[in-house]
Amino acid sequence: MILLDDVDKVYPGGVKAVTGVSLSIRKGEIYVLIGPSGCGKSTILNMINRLISATGGRILIDGVDSRQIEPTLLRRSIGYAIQETALFPHMTVRENIAVVPRLCKWEERRIAARVEELLHLIGLDPGQYADKYPAQLSGGEKQRVGVARALGADPPILLMDEPFGAIDPITRVRLQDQFLEIQEKINKTIVFVTHDIDEALKMGDHIGILNQGRLVQSGTPKDILSHPADAFVEVFMGTGWKMKWLKLIRVEEVMDHTDCFCTLDADGPEVARRMRRQALSSLPVVDGAHRLLGYVPLKEVQAGRDWQRRILPYAQVLGKKWTLFDSFLPLFADANNYLPVAEDKGTLLGLLTEAHLREYLGDTFMESEEGLQDAGADHPIQ
Ligand SMILES: Nc1ncnc2c1ncn2[C@@H]1O[C@H](COP(=O)(O)OP(=O)(O)O)[C@@H](O)[C@H]1O
Ligand SMILES: [Mg+2]
Repeated sequence: MILLDDVDKVYPGGVKAVTGVSLSIRKGEIYVLIGPSGCGKSTILNMINRLISATGGRILIDGVDSRQIEPTLLRRSIGYAIQETALFPHMTVRENIAVVPRLCKWEERRIAARVEELLHLIGLDPGQYADKYPAQLSGGEKQRVGVARALGADPPILLMDEPFGAIDPITRVRLQDQFLEIQEKINKTIVFVTHDIDEALKMGDHIGILNQGRLVQSGTPKDILSHPADAFVEVFMGTGWKMKWLKLIRVEEVMDHTDCFCTLDADGPEVARRMRRQALSSLPVVDGAHRLLGYVPLKEVQAGRDWQRRILPYAQVLGKKWTLFDSFLPLFADANNYLPVAEDKGTLLGLLTEAHLREYLGDTFMESEEGLQDAGADHPIQ
């Protein structure tokens, strides 16, 4: 959809703002450009819609060199939302949102319908908001109207330059959530600039990290958190970046042992055998509808007779959408060496075991050490 091929920008006076940046932005994704202040983020954004022209390389939009597209046409097909929105203060919300559709010479009736539709999309009641002026809106409302204005003529591409940068942290999180919901519906190709790594990890399908005008890493949030390209990326992600990775992984990606449970009619020796085979200290017990009743500890089963009367409740049951960040403390605090994962209705889905989690973490973070371990296997320590 958008391709930057070895793009440079040297400003008059010789400032090298962008050097040799190549990246591709897929249709329908949010691509986040992030880096410290002055690293060239806004310059890249403004080269995409040709507010600024590149001094080297090419920018292709849907395979067409952007220099071959007439600039006003290009800008009408690319929405643009910036920090503090720059809404026109003398225009109402309705007039602000209608700016680009008017430039595109839409019929009045179509414009009116589009304004209503966009106000609904951003969660502002048209009856209450359409005729207000920007000065009558809160910061968060202004920002949402800024997004609606950028979407005015339904452009396939949206450029957003630190759109939530000037908003207080609580409102900012709400705007991020709302925007992700909106994107589910509109599915635009979005280039989103921020200097906040947590915002980048939350919003981005892909992230490009810039340093002094150069792209130092591009990948999914998981790629970047599990394999930072260099020390700059590690420092930029902040302390505890591996913890941030834990926030991106859901229990359903790591759970297993979907067949590890027993029903009330199981006999004791078989239950005990199953626990030993799976190296579990207890086993979940389910009813006929596969709903989780609790667990039976190995020692109760080994003691013989009536294990069905020794069922204990789990201190914590995990949901499949829980993140590893939310799950690992309950898991390691529990006397069992695993926790069950269940649906809201109580249906058992599987187990998150300490052993499997350890293996998963190892696979993710220890790849570079694998070679050493393999080498060690040939020369066991005597
Ligand atoms: N119009 C300009 N003329 C000269 N230098 C500029 C101009 N705009 C930006 N720069 C410089 O280019 C570099 C990148 O700026 P910018 O893209 O705005 O960074 P960011 O958005 O990442 O903070 C900075 O060193 C900045 O000072
Ligand atoms: Mg900037």
